[in-house]
Amino acid sequence: MVPGPEDEFHDPLDAAARLSREWLDGMPTRSIVARADVEQVKDALGRDLADAGVDPVEVVESLSAAVEPGLIAMQSPRFFGWVIGGTAPSALAADWLVSAWDQNAALREVTPGVNGAEELAAEWLCDLLGLPSGTVAGFTTGATTANLVALAAARHAVLERVGWDDAVDGIQGAPRIRVFAGDDHHPSVDVALRWLGLGRPVDVATDDQGRMLPEALEAALAVGAGSAAGEDGRGDDGAGDDGSGDDGSGDDRPSPAIVCLQAGNIHSGASDPFEACVGVAHAAGAWAHVDGAFGLWVAASGRLRHLVAGVELADSWATDAHKTLNVPYDAGIVAVADPAPLVAAMTMHAAYLPAAATGIDAADRVLELSRRARGVPTYAALRTLGRDGVAELVDGLADAATALAEGLRAMEGVEVLNEVVFTQVCAAFDGHDVAELARALDDDGVALAHPSRWRGRDVLRFSVSNRSTDAAATAATLDAVRRVLAG
Ligand SMILES: Cc1ncc(COP(=O)(O)O)c(C=O)c1O
Repeated sequence: MVPGPEDEFHDPLDAAARLSREWLDGMPTRSIVARADVEQVKDALGRDLADAGVDPVEVVESLSAAVEPGLIAMQSPRFFGWVIGGTAPSALAADWLVSAWDQNAALREVTPGVNGAEELAAEWLCDLLGLPSGTVAGFTTGATTANLVALAAARHAVLERVGWDDAVDGIQGAPRIRVFAGDDHHPSVDVALRWLGLGRPVDVATDDQGRMLPEALEAALAVGAGSAAGEDGRGDDGAGDDGSGDDGSGDDRPSPAIVCLQAGNIHSGASDPFEACVGVAHAAGAWAHVDGAFGLWVAASGRLRHLVAGVELADSWATDAHKTLNVPYDAGIVAVADPAPLVAAMTMHAAYLPAAATGIDAADRVLELSRRARGVPTYAALRTLGRDGVAELVDGLADAATALAEGLRAMEGVEVLNEVVFTQVCAAFDGHDVAELARALDDDGVALAHPSRWRGRDVLRFSVSNRSTDAAATAATLDAVRRVLAG
């Protein structure tokens, strides 16, 4: 008998819940690295798609059994690779609900339940991060796409200021947009600029921690600044007449420019001096965007907020809830102070799509039309933690990074290269090959950190991003490092 719609979900969901609990319960003790590679996992899954289907419970159970050896314990308190947050229980549970509800959350009046939760989460986030009132935020897949969406809004705004509508005329023949970023910026900014046809940014000098030097930004902006219709415009052969100004003469509008700033350098955790840099950018008529994938979260802590003083002066921001807030993946956030260019860049219209009578649809804030309500787990995390809990989470990560750095510094031949201001610790090891050390740490199985290269030195990079990294976890990690150093 074919099960009725009311009970056909029970057994597969029960199996998924049981297997999820088993995975999470094993986190404190399991090896952090995967025990099977992709080909082994494919073998275990079964390479051929059979003609006959398989019972859903069997699919869930065999999927879990085949994949589990290839899983990496990213939720472990001793996982310090990339910038990988853990998973908060209510956020994970809310993530399940989002899938069960199966709402296409594009239009706020069509799916008010999930859009209500997403909109509240977005408003709370802007408030927690100290962004200006009126800022509009949307939920993206990650900070890379948040950078893309914000920079699309920026592109629209800076071209509109010189009389060019990229939504109608595209960017071929448009006045040239000059883009600037610190010389130690994250590559996701490059890929976002590439998608937008803006090319590589001009590198602006940074200090030893990767913080942009405001005077270097000012000097860079001054080079070839010209005017809106000046010689930097690609369209001064006629296309330039076409709404981009009056062909140079007498047009004193600054040429379009975007400055990409950073809250949280991937190696040092340091943030750009926003007050000065945004001031310089705005004085030159440029849009100031902040990539704050993890570093923007310090704004939620009374103790650490000073690290991003002035960040609220910028025009747009990108961050991730799946990093510092420990929400499951698929939780990026884009925020733009003036919603008009954001909506202009993202909106789509069709007779069959009922546009919102009030408010801004989710589909007008981000790239997707069909979209899961990916902001709901962030609502759950924020509601669970409250303002104080978010601040404690942020402070706790910084404290754990400090403890880790102190322990590393105390080891002979180990040098911590960065000022440990937030979650990042970059350690250099005298007389050791860092890649080999990382492999030895993997084999040891207790803690994971990734090799990298920063400021001309090979380093092991510890990124503390998990809510469960406590004193015991940092002590166990330091023991593991001592073991591998001892050979
Ligand atoms: C500073 C910075 N920006 C952007 C990103 C990209 O974020 P995502 O992986 O969510 O796209 C990262 C990822 O670590 C980052 O650290």
